[in-house]
Amino acid sequence: LPRKNTSLPPVVFHWIPFIGNAVAFGINPVNFLQECQKKHGDVFTCILLGKRITVCLGPDGHDFVFNGNVKNVSAAEAYKHLTTPVFGKDVVYDASVTTFMEQKKYDVPLICVYVEFVKAGLTTESFRLYVPMIVEDVLKYCQRFPMTGGRLNLGECMAEMIIITASRCLMGKEVSAALNEGETAVLYRHLEQGISPINFMIPNLPIEVNRKRDASQVKLTALFAGIVKRRRESEDNLNQDVVQTLMEQTYKDGSPLPDHHIAHLMIALLFGGQHTSATTSTWAIIHLAQDQQLIKALRQEQLEVLGSLFEPLTLDTLKDMPLLDNIVRESLRLHPPTFQVLRKILQPVAFDKTGYVIPVGHHICAAPMVSHLDERYFKDALRFDPYRWMRGEDGSAELESEVGADTTTDYGFGTVTTSARSAYLPFGAGRHRCIGEQFAYVQLKTIIAIFVRLFDFELPQGTIFPESDFTSMVVHATDPCEIQFTWRK
Ligand code: HEM
Repeated sequence: LPRKNTSLPPVVFHWIPFIGNAVAFGINPVNFLQECQKKHGDVFTCILLGKRITVCLGPDGHDFVFNGNVKNVSAAEAYKHLTTPVFGKDVVYDASVTTFMEQKKYDVPLICVYVEFVKAGLTTESFRLYVPMIVEDVLKYCQRFPMTGGRLNLGECMAEMIIITASRCLMGKEVSAALNEGETAVLYRHLEQGISPINFMIPNLPIEVNRKRDASQVKLTALFAGIVKRRRESEDNLNQDVVQTLMEQTYKDGSPLPDHHIAHLMIALLFGGQHTSATTSTWAIIHLAQDQQLIKALRQEQLEVLGSLFEPLTLDTLKDMPLLDNIVRESLRLHPPTFQVLRKILQPVAFDKTGYVIPVGHHICAAPMVSHLDERYFKDALRFDPYRWMRGEDGSAELESEVGADTTTDYGFGTVTTSARSAYLPFGAGRHRCIGEQFAYVQLKTIIAIFVRLFDFELPQGTIFPESDFTSMVVHATDPCEIQFTWRK
């Protein structure tokens, strides 16, 4: 039947009004979206527990969602009910867009400079320090593994390595020490359990998980604000970490960041990089475990750059290892941790290329994972093939030259350019683009490089390669995600 209002995208068929497509979406959202795409093309609306979500797939859909005008399209309205109880008040999506953009900029001197490797001075020096720090922490962590080898639960192990290395590099000595203590680690776990699909769909249910989340938020804020206070009082101001950067900055009106803003931003940053990087390192290593030739090629690459596998890794030598780089890139293609990104429509928005107008109250959703797995953009898309990037199959080159749709984000001391009209967007695009990308790359590359030095590893006999588990906000590998390892001589 012809639709009554042709300016609205097609609605995906469902039997039960409020529930809508929630069951099919919940079981495997990517399969569901691929099926809808076959029927309706790149733009369609599904109903998920009463929310009307217009999915915009492909490079044009990405551009529409990531580059939406802030007056019409809001990330805060889509996410704040989920993130404010976890991060705290007045930061990120609980702040005005302008304030959040200022806060993002303030985080950047330490994070974005990693990107460029060219900035002189303190921040580049800090960055160079991180590689040996990560190496040291990974070596220390691996000493826990039995000398006789055995099975390793990769998910758990990578989550621990990421938090240890990220907190030491970015958050400084005090947070790192605190997170190693039992009580703080428990607070952190309670907080992370608050970021869940149920809290996204129905916020603030009076359930035990949320009570623990709220209590832990207050305690962690007090702990982090206490660190800031102690540093100020003891004039401990020579640290090269994000805490120090935030303490030294002011908002545009000249006012310093209140301590609770600093504490809440620290929590937000810890969360931004934890599950995303933990799951990426897990996938990278499990793919390596399946392909012994790749492990050998990675060792060979290190030998060619360093001369010996006993030479220390540095920022500069890591830069000369394209295969290692592409192992991370390809893991993010097949398994982008943030498989979908949402915005809420505040004013009706025309999606010009399609003739549709998306009404107020709808959410729009980009799901880069669907394009990452699409044969139109990536040949043999389901195959883990890091060499595809060396052959220039980046899923976006043609489109970019066709439209020249680059997005330049000016962080105030340098720019990061990404085209939102790309098929490959594991770190998003536009004003909400990830600021942790370069840190994540350095951290992940260092961990993988050390891992292949230390261990021979493979999938345990009789185990099945893990699948994507979509039950939490960040997609991870299904349990058990194990490898069989032995120490190399
Ligand atoms: C934003 C992915 C690591 C901090 C984003 C977005 C994506 C993403 C897709 C865009 C979200 C949106 O548009 O709604 C990833 C992946 C990572 C990673 C795949 C690692 C493999 C990190 C790290 C940090 C971080 C290490 C911090 C140190 C942030 C922040 C934002 C962001 C602050 C901005 C949110 C906004 O402006 O709305 N990330 N991220 N991320 N990420 Fe990451």
